[in-house]
Amino acid sequence: MANSNVLLLNILHMILLWRLNFSEAQLVPAVFIFGDSIADVGNNNYLKNTIAKANFTPNGIDFPGMTPTGRFCNGKNIADFIAERAGLPSSPPYLSLVSRSGEINNATSFLTGANFASAAAGILNSTGTIFGEVIPLSTQIDYFATVSKELKQQLGPSAAQKFFAKSIIVIETGNNDVIFSALLPDPSGKNNTPQQLVDLVPAILEEQLRRLYDYGARKFVVMGASAVGCCPFLRAWDEGGECNEVLNSLSITYNEGVEPMLRKLKSEIKDMSYTYCDSYGVLQHLIQNAKLYGFEEIKAACCGQGNYRGKLTCFETSPHCSNRSDYLFWDPFHPTEAAQRILVDIIFDGPSKYTFPLSLRQLIAL
Ligand SMILES: *[C@@H]1O[C@H](CO)[C@@H](O)[C@H](O)[C@H]1NC(C)=O
Ligand SMILES: *[C@@H]1O[C@H](CO)[C@@H](O)[C@H](O)[C@H]1NC(C)=O
Ligand SMILES: *[C@@H]1O[C@H](CO)[C@@H](O)[C@H](O)[C@H]1NC(C)=O
Repeated sequence: MANSNVLLLNILHMILLWRLNFSEAQLVPAVFIFGDSIADVGNNNYLKNTIAKANFTPNGIDFPGMTPTGRFCNGKNIADFIAERAGLPSSPPYLSLVSRSGEINNATSFLTGANFASAAAGILNSTGTIFGEVIPLSTQIDYFATVSKELKQQLGPSAAQKFFAKSIIVIETGNNDVIFSALLPDPSGKNNTPQQLVDLVPAILEEQLRRLYDYGARKFVVMGASAVGCCPFLRAWDEGGECNEVLNSLSITYNEGVEPMLRKLKSEIKDMSYTYCDSYGVLQHLIQNAKLYGFEEIKAACCGQGNYRGKLTCFETSPHCSNRSDYLFWDPFHPTEAAQRILVDIIFDGPSKYTFPLSLRQLIAL
């Protein structure tokens, strides 16, 4: 009798360890993703009043099953590739895991992570609202707080703390704050210049990172703003199809605020660590070394309309290219699956010129 109780206890213990220590190919317990359309895997499908959706063909034409999912891409996006590198299935869209009223009905479905990213959203609450309803970063983090609370109840505080501390938190945002600050009037009505608006954003990002830390996050991957002036949408308005340097310099302004902010955070909070990815530098590198990476076309989008297929976004009826791996851009704003895979390779292993102070591989190993 006593022996069988011991056996039962041992089995229970093993099951618990297995749940908490995960399988060997799996490098981290979970991946939580925050951001915009580059990383959205379908959250916006659940929003009623927004036109920022991609749940129609030819989006997803190269996705398993050739299905549109809400990803703004021909295939997988960076959220999928980061999960793959961590040995995990893609984190599901948060809104697919909660009831209509926003209740979490099964907290165990968050044990390998969740994706909170929302197309058109940014760090500023106002960003993207011209398209209708979006989920700004602060709300994405409210959702994470709910997950954190539920898992503390399910796992117990100490196991939950370990779970979050070992998990990877990806923040891929900033691009829309740059684009909308440049193209629309100051939403506050204070007539700030785009430069002044973008200058304010890194401090707001800092507040949000501190909130994530308070909810248990320790290992961050933070992506800088990309060279957004080089996307087909902006090339389309230049006669020679050149990059828009006004937009690019706004991205640089944003990044020049984010980098020192991250260094400061790390110096103040010893047990947080981060990987910063210079998305701007990576895009320029891919443009300059296109052939090396197998890209035949770096200016025009694969799917869209007008000059460089950049003037109108990718609709069901839009013309699209037949060989997506030749293209750097899928639609007027978003890189192809091929380009997003390379971006994640660089996040994972460097070179350290683009990914620092730690590569994602090093961040995971901490
Ligand atoms: C909760 O979610 C997990 C993982 O997705 C699933 O295996 C389990 O069956 C679900 N439990 C209930 C009660 O729905
Ligand atoms: C954004 O909105 C949230 C609530 O919806 C609010 O708490 C927060 O202060 C707002 N952020 C800014 C920078 O206005
Ligand atoms: C598509 O492009 C890639 C890279 O340029 C090339 O290797 C491949 O053969 C092309 N496939 C087709 C079907 O043309």
